Amino acid sequence: MNNSELLRRNQSNPSPAVIDSPRTPPCSSCKTRSPIRYMLREQRLLFVFVGIAIATLFFNVVRFTFPPELRDDHHRALNSFVRLGSTIPMRRVLYETRREGSLGRVNLAGRVPPGLKNKNLRIVVTGGAGFVGSHLVDRLIERGDSVIVVDNFFTGRKDNLVHHFGNPRFELIRHDVVQPILLEVDQIYHLACPASPVHYKFNPVKTIKTNVVGTLNMLGLAKRVGARFLLTSTSEVYGDPLQHPQAETYWGNVNPIGVRSCYDEGKRTAETLTMDYHRGLGIEVRIARIFNTYGPRMCIDDGRVVSNFVAQALRKEPLTVYGDGKQTRSFQYVSDLVEGLMKLMEGEHVGPFNLGNPGEFTMLELAQVVQETIDPNARIEFRPNTEDDPHKRKPDISKAKDLLGWEPTVSLRKGLPLMVSDFRQRIFGDSKDDISAAAALVTTTTTV
Ligand SMILES: NC(=O)c1ccc[n+]([C@@H]2O[C@H](COP(=O)([O-])OP(=O)(O)OC[C@H]3O[C@@H](n4cnc5c(N)ncnc54)[C@H](O)[C@@H]3O)[C@@H](O)[C@H]2O)c1
Repeated sequence: MNNSELLRRNQSNPSPAVIDSPRTPPCSSCKTRSPIRYMLREQRLLFVFVGIAIATLFFNVVRFTFPPELRDDHHRALNSFVRLGSTIPMRRVLYETRREGSLGRVNLAGRVPPGLKNKNLRIVVTGGAGFVGSHLVDRLIERGDSVIVVDNFFTGRKDNLVHHFGNPRFELIRHDVVQPILLEVDQIYHLACPASPVHYKFNPVKTIKTNVVGTLNMLGLAKRVGARFLLTSTSEVYGDPLQHPQAETYWGNVNPIGVRSCYDEGKRTAETLTMDYHRGLGIEVRIARIFNTYGPRMCIDDGRVVSNFVAQALRKEPLTVYGDGKQTRSFQYVSDLVEGLMKLMEGEHVGPFNLGNPGEFTMLELAQVVQETIDPNARIEFRPNTEDDPHKRKPDISKAKDLLGWEPTVSLRKGLPLMVSDFRQRIFGDSKDDISAAAALVTTTTTV
């Protein structure tokens, strides 16, 4: 037999050593027995039982260490998260499932991830150092929320917020909204914008930038962190109205190239942006159209008619009436506005909503109320009217009444003394006790 023949014979008749090799499939009875044998070998089963016992003990200890409400929160949060099975940012989901409570309180119970004890809202108020913003901050802090004020102090003052310094739930950031900012918040009240003609005409390009770029930046923030956004627009979007009183359905009569356009058109664009972010990107938004508001902390010489008259009467100067004094305005006390803004933010409706006091006064009637309140001998001086000054302004607030259950409660004759005390104190440095005394006057409320 030659070598090649030997080789071929070896291939067709494999040796017994090859048959017994471990790679050969085992018999069927061996197949069923081998896992059991594996488990029983070297006390592996015992280790498995010990492992199960330790895990059971651990989960029970953790469960009873957490307070009951947190345990439930944890389970519910986990369940909802698993059910959603999505990559939606957690905070956004939390916000959409909240409920309204008394006074618009928000209830996040059951939705706070374990380990985070603070269930109150984190709210940013742009322009919070200003007149309206600082009163809003007072109410939000009083309600128990954490507030971050973003303000560039163009017309705002630290004095308006000094009573919150040192409160751990309050933060103040000097920042211009024309630049982007990233903050982790649940709600954004966007007020930043000079509001009086003297201030918004001072640098019109900056005013329109604040309204357009500033609003874009804050809407961008709302989108990024899933916050609800509220824009404080203005009755100026109605321009010199051809419809009286003005309902939200009226589109306005605005001069696009006038000296007031930086403000009027700026706010109209801000409303457009707000609605486009809502429709296009699903951002939760609210729009308030604010009518003339007055109260303590207004800038003293800002050219707004109520602050002008009050400061002039206190300084024994003549009250300056522009035009024939027959143009009308409505005057809302600031606490009514703040109540309306909060109801709007916490409610389910986007708006726009008119927030104002429907009581209508001519400038001469207002001068008369100021005379009665401060100085009956105050003189009235007539001056030529300013460009684009609207002739009539009076809100139709039916929509806010029906859908928000809101209407103003402080009459001009009740609210004016409060403002006078604050102005007197700031102009002459009178004691703050006078202001508290005047505040006590507004115990009963009536509509103008
Ligand atoms: N008070 C009213 O009668 C009235 C009426 C209609 C609308 N509004 C609106 O309400 C809001 C608040 O008005 P207000 O009366 O309190 O005015 P305000 O001037 O007292 O307050 C505006 C605040 O915004 C800040 N600000 C301005 N530009 C800014 C910027 N670029 N970046 C950051 N902060 C900036 C100011 O420093 C100020 O603190 C405004 O948006 C205004 O248009 C007010």
